[in-house]
Amino acid sequence: MHRSIYCGAISRDNLDEDITICGWVDRRRDHGGVIFIDLRDRKGTVQVVFDGDSGVHFAEADRVRSEYVLKVTGKVRARTPDTINSLMSTGEVEIYGMYLEILNHAETPPFQLDEHVTVSEEIRLKYRYMDLRRPDMQRALLLRSKVTHSIRNYLDKHNFLDIETPIMTRATPEGARDYLIPSRTYPGQFFAMPQSPQLFKQILMVAGFDRYYQIARCFRDEDLRADRQPEFTQIDIEASFVDEFDVISFSEHMLKEIFLEHMGVDLGVFPKISYAEAMERYGSDKPDLRIPLELVEIKDLLAEIEFRVFSAPANDPDSRIAALKVPGGGDMSRKKIDEYTEFVGIYGAKGLAWIKVNSVEQGLDGFQSPIIKFLGEKVTMDIMERMSVEDGDIVFFGADKSSVVSEALGALRNRIGRDLNLYSQSWAPVWIVDFPMFEKLDGGSFNALHHPFTAPVCSVDNIIDAPQDSLSRAYDIVLNGFELGGGSIRIHDSVTQSAVFEVLGISQNEQRDKFGFLLDALKFGAPPHGGIALGLDRLLMLMLGTESIRDVIAFPKTQSASCMLTDAPSSVEPQQLKELGVRLRKVGG
Ligand code: AMO
Ligand code: AMP
Repeated sequence: MHRSIYCGAISRDNLDEDITICGWVDRRRDHGGVIFIDLRDRKGTVQVVFDGDSGVHFAEADRVRSEYVLKVTGKVRARTPDTINSLMSTGEVEIYGMYLEILNHAETPPFQLDEHVTVSEEIRLKYRYMDLRRPDMQRALLLRSKVTHSIRNYLDKHNFLDIETPIMTRATPEGARDYLIPSRTYPGQFFAMPQSPQLFKQILMVAGFDRYYQIARCFRDEDLRADRQPEFTQIDIEASFVDEFDVISFSEHMLKEIFLEHMGVDLGVFPKISYAEAMERYGSDKPDLRIPLELVEIKDLLAEIEFRVFSAPANDPDSRIAALKVPGGGDMSRKKIDEYTEFVGIYGAKGLAWIKVNSVEQGLDGFQSPIIKFLGEKVTMDIMERMSVEDGDIVFFGADKSSVVSEALGALRNRIGRDLNLYSQSWAPVWIVDFPMFEKLDGGSFNALHHPFTAPVCSVDNIIDAPQDSLSRAYDIVLNGFELGGGSIRIHDSVTQSAVFEVLGISQNEQRDKFGFLLDALKFGAPPHGGIALGLDRLLMLMLGTESIRDVIAFPKTQSASCMLTDAPSSVEPQQLKELGVRLRKVGG
């Protein structure tokens, strides 16, 4: 008999049925004369019982070990009330085993599945097929499949066409290093793997497809973090004849539908805040709005004081001085404050000044701080009034170049939010809009803040004359402090596109060489268009509450961008290199 039902799907509805199940041995217990086997498949686990009456199959059951693959036929029966296991979805029933076939043996597993927490991630990734048998991983990949399906449904319903774009292509600038593929037919030349399908989706708009999507694999050789993989998946979307409000609105609807369908969560109305406001109030362009703490600017109060730490930045237009009040944080130990001082140091902060509020009523005497003696009474009282402090609060201060203060206090805000569990809600989506077109690099050159194909709000003349003041038509969607996606309305005429390239320091020749196909396409009837890409891995990480996107990807790379399972990357035969016209030199040579 073939499998008739999944182990994890059996319930009281199947009482007295004869069933056949296939799966892996989760656990086997021998109670002298009775053998219990928990058999597991992708739907869950069910208890199978063999006793002396099972005949030869009892002897067979005696031989099985963890992770053996079995086929079992038996009868579903109710457990007695005292043996019901409420932790198991099938815990009200068990299978009385009548027939058992060992389909395959298994060596002693490299780790017990329920001990995954104590084994290193490297081991889990090396034996990924074992790790993926764990219910957590099964649940994650199941949800991933379901969410992808819902996204396709949503986009199909709204007339988007699923169109594939090449993996072997030219470099697409999204700000990371490229993965390159040497060409055999053109020795010395390389394909690049796409950092995103950006230019192809724009070309598809020029081609008249009007609404495109793709669940697209992207490749970026960049520093890896918990929310970054060298190879990851985007829900990539582009549409013609739309403005930013259209893209924002359909992306928001799609996310809301997914959360409602799969999590039973109503994400509510997504607020929109400008990039400038996000930096000022939260020190970040991906603020975690679950945390009810804000940075407050106090630069104007400190211009006249003598204390150099504060007076120098107070009089420098590129600097800021910000304060962060933590209500009820006044009982923080010196050790904790030292820890936070070290933490903000990672972001370049040279210190972390603070004032504890013991008693507002007592005025200056009610405060405790290493800096009050430098600030004097008036300035201290003005600051504390602006911060609306109450007894038991602590206020932290950052004074430095604006970028350092924002980054350091922005990170501290997240850290304290987590340490003190200040979250005021479970889900906090927010759109960040009105991004600058460019960021100025230290050498004075400009970088595209989104990517070079993003349309400016202003005219071509303005971009050339005052790049630093130009805003773009880009938008990011942020959820719980993670950048979930980003997009923009694109440039659809070659003159503007050329002007932007020029600001970015890309010469006319280089423009023709690298982006000639785009500049040409823009001349042959390019419609106004725009789009967005959402990180599918990050979306699932957030939905499942996992620590890393590695936990929602079947075969992820390690932090150092290798595949433990297949041992990739690996060296290749000299003959292969020769065919590719590639010669290796000694590393460091
Ligand atoms: P962007 O570079 O912002 O935009 O990428 C869009 C989203 O992709 C996800 N993401 C990543 N996820 C995992 N690992 C990575 N290394 C990684 N890098 C990015 C993030 C991010 O928000 N072409 C534009 C989109 C557009 O303009 O339409 C683009 O790629 O969730
Ligand atoms: P100092 O005068 O260096 O002993 O610093 C006095 C206090 O100011 C200490 O609590 C420092 O941590 C803090 N501090 C020093 N530099 C900065 C800075 N750039 N921003 C904020 N606080 C600082």
